[in-house]
Amino acid sequence: MSVDSATLDLTETSITEAVQNTFAGTRDDRARELFVNLVRHLHDFIREVGLTGDEWFTAVDFLERVGHASGPTRQEFVLLSDILGASVLVDLIDHPHGRTAATESTLLGPFFVEGRPSVPNGTDISGGVPGTPLFFGGAVVDEAGAPVPGVRVDTWHSDGEGRYDVQQAERLHDRLAMRALLTTDEHGRFRYRSIAPQYYPVPTDGPCGEILRAADRSPMRPEHIHFRFHADGFDPLITMLFRAGDPYIDNDAVFGVRHSLITEFVTHDAGSTAPDGTVMNVPFQTVDRTFVLTAAR
Ligand SMILES: [Fe+2]
Repeated sequence: MSVDSATLDLTETSITEAVQNTFAGTRDDRARELFVNLVRHLHDFIREVGLTGDEWFTAVDFLERVGHASGPTRQEFVLLSDILGASVLVDLIDHPHGRTAATESTLLGPFFVEGRPSVPNGTDISGGVPGTPLFFGGAVVDEAGAPVPGVRVDTWHSDGEGRYDVQQAERLHDRLAMRALLTTDEHGRFRYRSIAPQYYPVPTDGPCGEILRAADRSPMRPEHIHFRFHADGFDPLITMLFRAGDPYIDNDAVFGVRHSLITEFVTHDAGSTAPDGTVMNVPFQTVDRTFVLTAAR
C-alpha cells in the first residue's frame, strides 16, 4: 500500500500547504484561487491568535446558530457580513466609487425579500401602517443625464418606529408593506407614497446581537430608504438614501453611509399640497432624488 507522506505527521506550519494542495485539481481557476487563499488566511488567523479548542467550538456553534436564525425573511448571515464590514468592503471593491458619475452604491442589508408587489407609479405602498406620510419622487438618468425609461426599481424601508414589515409579520398578518417594485416612466421617473421611516437598531435578538453586546457596539442605523435598480444595458445599482440630520448618520452599525447619499427629507406643514395634488390635513415629507446609472461594463 502506498502512503502519501504529504499528509502524514503534519505540523502547525506544513498543514497549510497540504490542505492547499488538495485544491490543485479545482477546474475553475478563480474558485481554486479563492479556496487556496481562504485556507492561507484561515490558518494564519488560527496560528496568529493561538485559537483554543473551546474558542473553535464556540465559533462553530455560533455559525450554526446564525444558520438556524436565517430564513426567507431573516438574513442573519447577511447581517453578520454587514456588522463585520465585509458587505461594504466587497461593494467598495466591486464598485469602485468616484470613477464614474454613477450614484454611489452601498450594501443590500438583511431586509430585502423576494415576492414584493409590483405596483404602478403613485401607489401608496405603506400597507396602511401609521406614520408621517412620505412622497418619494425619483428620476433615473444615464451618465450623460438622459432619462432612462423602463428601469425596474425596488424600494424598501422601515416604518416610523424603525421596524420592517418582516419584523412584524403577526401585526401585518404576513402582508409585505413599505416595499415595492416600480418601473420608471417614459421620462425616467418613478414615484410612490409611503410613510417616513425611522432610524433603527439592527436585529440584536439573534447571534449577531451577541457580538454587538460583547463589544459594547451601537446597533443603530441612521434613517434610510433602500433602492435596487435594474435596467437592460446598465450595471445594476444597490444603494440607499440617508436622511440629512439623522442623529446616527456618522455611526452606522453596518458602515454603509456615503456623503453623496445623504439627502434632504423635506417636511411640509398640514394644509400644504402634496406632489400628487392632495391637500394634506397632516404634516408630511417629500424626498426627490436623481439616480445615475452607469452603462453595463
Ligand atoms: Fe434598512
